[in-house]
Amino acid sequence: MGRPGGAHTVNLTIMTSPGGMPQHIAIVMDGNGRWATKRFLPRLAGHRQGMESLRRCIRACLERHVGVLTVFAFSSENWNRPADEVSGLMELLATALAKEVPQLLKDGVRLHFVGDRAGLSDKVRTGLDQAEQATAANSKLVLNVCFNYGGRWDIAQAAARLAALGQPITEMALHQAMAMAHVPDPDLIIRTGGELRLSNFLLWQAAYAELFFSDKLWPDFDEAELDRAIGEFNRRERRYGQTSDQVATPGPGQKAA
Ligand code: FPP
Repeated sequence: MGRPGGAHTVNLTIMTSPGGMPQHIAIVMDGNGRWATKRFLPRLAGHRQGMESLRRCIRACLERHVGVLTVFAFSSENWNRPADEVSGLMELLATALAKEVPQLLKDGVRLHFVGDRAGLSDKVRTGLDQAEQATAANSKLVLNVCFNYGGRWDIAQAAARLAALGQPITEMALHQAMAMAHVPDPDLIIRTGGELRLSNFLLWQAAYAELFFSDKLWPDFDEAELDRAIGEFNRRERRYGQTSDQVATPGPGQKAA
């Protein structure tokens, strides 16, 4: 059996920044539609407000020295929504790219778009490539925007790539072939909107993440709720399959939790 950090398993080094801040926070931004409906507004108004909330969250992560923020903006299954909502979300992405990238560039944010680009229009694809290139030298915060993304898609595409190369499908090889290989696994996954599920988000990478479910609708998610999630994260004991005693007195070569 492999052990944390062993040759045949993915490295499970505890990724916590100094000061107990999770190194990588991932968020299912749920509740935009309900936020709008409650105000007798079209669902798209909720997504627009969700964009404001995302902007606030990015700033809060920069201020708190979080290294990686990953957000679920459009799932592989979201194509099944009404056509006007799908096209509205595509437009929102294109507008956000034009409007937000200059500020993200100044703020030291490096953008990555994670997901299947094959289903996207040429215009959107070009926009994603340009935003990634423009921010490639930044390193304060890595912002992964999961767009046309699904956890099952990622596992399948990684396995297909290894198979095409004739490489053995090991845990480590799969991990490295995945679309999120450029960052450590999330320490903390937050889902807003009161639902208690992952909905095909980071299925592989969520293995040892701490989960935090918030009743707030995404447009209402603010710094105080982010801090509540981080506070809860800091009260959890991350054991990675070990016992509490082992975590308290780590053996040689292992980091304390
Ligand atoms: C889920 O809420 C949210 C989405 C499917 C879209 C998330 C998009 C944003 C937060 C805006 C930022 C967008 C881009 C393109 C960067 P829901 O619509 O399922 O809400 P509901 O459960 O209340 O219906």
